[in-house]
Amino acid sequence: MNKKTYYITTPIYYPSANFHIGHCYTTIIADSIARYKRLQGYDVCFQTGTDEHGQKIENKALEAGKTPKEYVDEIVDNAKDLWKSLNVKYDKFIRTTDKNHEETVQKIFVKLYEQGDIYKGEYKGLYCTPCESFWTEVQLVDGKCPDCGREVHEVKEEAYFLKLSNYQDRLVKYIEEHPEFIQPESRKNEMINNFIKPGLEDLCVSRTSFKWGIPVPFDNNHVVYVWLDALSNYITSLGYLSDDDSEFKKYWPADLHLVGKEIVRFHTIIWPIILMALDLPLPKQVFGHGWLVVNGGKISKSLGNYRDPREYIEKYGVDAVRYFVLREVSFGNDGNFSEEALISRTNSDLANNLGNLVNRTITMAKKYFSGHVSNKLVNEDIDIELIDSVNSLKKVVAQKMEILHISEAIEAIFETYRKCNKYIDETMPWALAKDENSNDRLQTVMYNLLESIRVCTNLLSPYLPDTSENIMSQLNINNNSFDFEKDNVYFVNDPEVLFKRIS
Ligand code: MSP
Repeated sequence: MNKKTYYITTPIYYPSANFHIGHCYTTIIADSIARYKRLQGYDVCFQTGTDEHGQKIENKALEAGKTPKEYVDEIVDNAKDLWKSLNVKYDKFIRTTDKNHEETVQKIFVKLYEQGDIYKGEYKGLYCTPCESFWTEVQLVDGKCPDCGREVHEVKEEAYFLKLSNYQDRLVKYIEEHPEFIQPESRKNEMINNFIKPGLEDLCVSRTSFKWGIPVPFDNNHVVYVWLDALSNYITSLGYLSDDDSEFKKYWPADLHLVGKEIVRFHTIIWPIILMALDLPLPKQVFGHGWLVVNGGKISKSLGNYRDPREYIEKYGVDAVRYFVLREVSFGNDGNFSEEALISRTNSDLANNLGNLVNRTITMAKKYFSGHVSNKLVNEDIDIELIDSVNSLKKVVAQKMEILHISEAIEAIFETYRKCNKYIDETMPWALAKDENSNDRLQTVMYNLLESIRVCTNLLSPYLPDTSENIMSQLNINNNSFDFEKDNVYFVNDPEVLFKRIS
């Protein structure tokens, strides 16, 4: 039987500068969900990538004395290296400069033009000549260019437009009939009330004022303008309208587009309309998450709070960074990233709770049984309590992951590690070790601990893959089940410190 498929995407990021911890946030979350789904037996396609066209990149490249392609190539290499150091295991990395993407976007443009959804009109905008950039009224700061602070003036330019208004009623009906489509719920209401109901303005989909874009095939003065190019990535990468569209048939519609709250609008209004115009099914869900702010403010080079995420990885370890972003922020809301909070989380949860538990359990197994532990089944009531909570963990995690309450899923795992620590304090293996008659009870206690750690750690693997692998290799067992089993046999390896306390 064919496996069930699961297609999850991150936004494709602008390679206008190297990526910061905010980009890592979405990507780590997507990676953890993808890993979780793979563990559940799904055939997963996890896609990320880069959105490389547009005036801003053209200008940046010019400033750096490079061609736009040279400029983005460097940033893309840097991004791929960052994802590797964060243990992000994507299946596809799409670049909007990929040849097949460019060709398919052209086909989409022609198709929509021929069927009357795209028409030629006139674009009016506020233009800053020195920056060569268009701005909207709301983007201006004190009526001036937000980048350089100089005067802007109104210009007109021939452009193609996508008729969003044609699909307005169908879109509202779809959103209302599919409550799971836009999540969290608050974002859905915002879309309907603030954007759709007041009436949709047609979307400008081509420009003539810059060159760094995909040419409109039948009108070469024009290049395709950002969102049509960018949003199409989710299907061009799967071979839509190409000679081999087997992946498109297999994975589309996407199960989950993860996006930051500022681009929910494009993913829940423009993207569904493009898909409706192409007569394609809509993604099952768009989840708009909050922002990671740094010490309360937006991350930006000019505020001086931009740091290469690799600095944190080198200093504290990849799983300390992954754990922090996954656990600290309740998914959907904004959350604060600070080095102090990362240190405090690492110390309390990873070093004290998890690290200590694994270390003292393995050390005791070595000391009392030379590392060789099997289940002697000398159980007491206190064991049942622990075993029950270990056995119910997979269900709790599944329920939380189903609604993308990722931080709560992880919290449930760590709560069970905490219960194991409490179990040690209450059963006091060191006291049992003093009495030879308690030897079988002592071995049962050690077994219960090792087996509980094994189950929790299997469930932890999507979030902290390296740490899980390390624990499993200390336990020296190859068993991926999520159930407390009674008849495993352990020959544990020497203990290794998982996380050093950071002072
Ligand atoms: N290129 C568009 C997206 C096109 S998708 C078809 C774009 N790119 S972006 O580089 O600006 O990145 C946007 C995404 O990066 C956000 O939606 C979000 O997922 C992620 N983040 C960037 N900064 C972030 C934070 N400070 N916090 C959380 N996520 C952030 O928009």
